[in-house]
Amino acid sequence: RTLNQVSTDIELGDYAHYMLKEIFEQPNSIENAMRGRLDEDEATAKFGGLNLSSQQLRHIDRIVLTACGTSWHAAMVGEYLIEEFARIPVEVEYASELRYRNPPLNDRTMIFAITQSGETADTLAAMRECKRKGHPTLAICNVVGSSIAREADGGVYLHAGSEVGVASTKAFTSQVTVLTLLALFFGRMRHMSWQAGRNIIRELRTMPEHVERTLKCHDVVQEIADKYHRCSNFLYLGRLYNFPVALEGALKLKEISYIHAEGYPAAEMKHGPLALVDENTPSVFIVPKGGIYPKVISNLEEVKARKGPVIAIACEGDDRIADLADDVIYVPETDECLQPLVTSIPLQLLAYHIALLRGCNVDRPRNLAKSVTVE
Ligand code: G6P
Repeated sequence: RTLNQVSTDIELGDYAHYMLKEIFEQPNSIENAMRGRLDEDEATAKFGGLNLSSQQLRHIDRIVLTACGTSWHAAMVGEYLIEEFARIPVEVEYASELRYRNPPLNDRTMIFAITQSGETADTLAAMRECKRKGHPTLAICNVVGSSIAREADGGVYLHAGSEVGVASTKAFTSQVTVLTLLALFFGRMRHMSWQAGRNIIRELRTMPEHVERTLKCHDVVQEIADKYHRCSNFLYLGRLYNFPVALEGALKLKEISYIHAEGYPAAEMKHGPLALVDENTPSVFIVPKGGIYPKVISNLEEVKARKGPVIAIACEGDDRIADLADDVIYVPETDECLQPLVTSIPLQLLAYHIALLRGCNVDRPRNLAKSVTVE
């Protein structure tokens, strides 16, 4: 089916575009990704379709996450989560690379293919390659009955509902939610305490509310977009869990506004991108509260010292940031490991409004397709 046909099936409601509708659906889509999967008593997550025994799951000592585009960014968040919660070494591989590489996987390696559509040609090929070698190969997928969902040994559906906008938004936060649940699940099979599991569950349960609150930044984001939409380069910077968010923010902007944007781990700036900073190159700093906060602030100051405009994504109650950054978008405070679920949202809105102001077709950007079924 073509995108046109899909579009006519799904109500836009009061929204001007599918992308905006999908951004605003996130409190619900995140809730749906968790529904029935949180086990308070055992302080873990449960899944119906992994199709592996606990014995097989305990045997796993390495995980490979493979994906393309936005799903690859979700995989990067997943890597940090799984390694932190479960202490299992994780690698994130572009599916287009993995399919032609021959990494030394062993019989204790498990593969997850992460894909919204379930039809991405490279992801499908990478998955087949891993299956051929006998690894348990699971899918984290949105579209029910898609090729990848059918061919995988098992998996987890996102239940995000149809995503029509070519630039993925709600699928990303659902993927991150499911990866958090998987990290919790693997963690509780290994090193994670009952109490630590309960804390994660408690935070996850408040996430739909946090996201609802985050969406209130809409007007502020619109003003910021108005101020910067004529710039031709943007930098996106974050650290730890927010490094993949920086990559995803830059990708959103590139995809729909055709502005060159780069995502970087904030501290790597000094090894190159800092040379790009000038009065006309805004840097979007993702700088929520957490252990790394003072370090990101000093990265931010390096940019300010070179006259670069700074847009900060910061936690509510951060009184200091307004003096340092030119513009601030506040998000609710949550556990560091769950921050991507809130910090990614203003970046989606920023890309959306900048693209609109530049007269771009936000739902159907030039040269791109919703699902790339060719190599
Ligand atoms: C295309 C889409 C992206 C998406 C990527 C992977 O490039 O435009 O939005 O992230 O494919 O798609 P998948 O369906 O595998 O998640």
